[in-house]
Amino acid sequence: MTRRLEDLASPHLSGLIPYSPGKPIEEVEREFGVSDSVKLASNENPLGPSPRALQAIAAALPGLHRYPDGGGYALRQALARHWNVCADWLILGNGSNELLELVGRSFLQPGDEVLYARQAFVVYEMVAQMTGATKVAVPLKDFAHDLPTMQAAITAKTKLIFVANPNNPTGTCVDPRALEAFLAAVPRDIVVVLDEAYYEYLPPELRPDTLQFVRGGRWLLVLRTFSKIYGLAGLRIGYGIGPAELVGLLNKVREPFNTNSLAQVGAAAALADDAHVSASRAANDAGRTFLVERFRRMGLPVVPSVANFLLVDVGRPGAQVTEALLRRGVIVRPVAGYGFPTHLRITIGTASENERCAAALQAVLGA
Ligand SMILES: Cc1ncc(COP(=O)(O)O)c(C=O)c1O
Repeated sequence: MTRRLEDLASPHLSGLIPYSPGKPIEEVEREFGVSDSVKLASNENPLGPSPRALQAIAAALPGLHRYPDGGGYALRQALARHWNVCADWLILGNGSNELLELVGRSFLQPGDEVLYARQAFVVYEMVAQMTGATKVAVPLKDFAHDLPTMQAAITAKTKLIFVANPNNPTGTCVDPRALEAFLAAVPRDIVVVLDEAYYEYLPPELRPDTLQFVRGGRWLLVLRTFSKIYGLAGLRIGYGIGPAELVGLLNKVREPFNTNSLAQVGAAAALADDAHVSASRAANDAGRTFLVERFRRMGLPVVPSVANFLLVDVGRPGAQVTEALLRRGVIVRPVAGYGFPTHLRITIGTASENERCAAALQAVLGA
């Protein structure tokens, strides 16, 4: 008897829907016959990469015939100094996304429960699905993580908890003291992944002190990325900070050269470029204020955001409005898959991109 290909694949793949990324500019321009479009769909930094990162990358180009440093020594040392942690508490990933997968591969088996918020970054659910673990998804409350309900959902089978703070796609964060209390209350034999991809956009008073829990030996992995405020999404580089024992387990399943040499030098240079980070944060704050005001004037409810994107309710099917915006060369993200059928997730762009987005949305909704 001939077997079908899907019979050979892991049974966990049958319910897995591939991640759907924001449309690349080139594809939209080809498909809709537009030019000069603006991409506000993937929460990238509209100011671009740090000039210091570009310089470091250019200087590293002649060495491309060599394999990268598999352990990422220089970047881990730089991160260790930056965050005042030990270098062996650090693991680099091909984007922080890779680290989410490594956690799944290292810890999850069928029967284990994985706890996360239902409308949080979709990769948590995918990691649970692909390992055959049991998904325990707790709905958000007022568009933010409902930590007390998540805590109440912990059982003896809970092995892993994902928390995104700030959360994608809502842009909300939880009270820093409430998050610290949650981390203190979770039983110590559960692994917690705290995904802080948008951490650097938070004002200081909203930043929880999560590294204190790593220093205290809790099985916590704090994830950060160079894809957002550092403007290096195309390089694919992120990192995790966790106790050495936890990082050691993840290293067992990590591919030897998972982060490339240009990413390592670019990230180290970007980390040292405080001016670029500050300018990016200031531009984001101004752009967010502008867009919130414009959306409010259009009568559209906007979820209060602390990140570099806004979740706005356009009051009609998001997919339709997205397509009408695409025809005007504005690329945004519909979020029906997250259970928000009439919302759009819009990344804060440059001043002119924000203006263009607001005008296009007004034209589409007014039409
Ligand atoms: C909450 C969250 N976590 C992780 C990621 C993955 O980022 P990267 O793999 O580019 O580091 C994203 C990207 O959009 C995100 O929104």
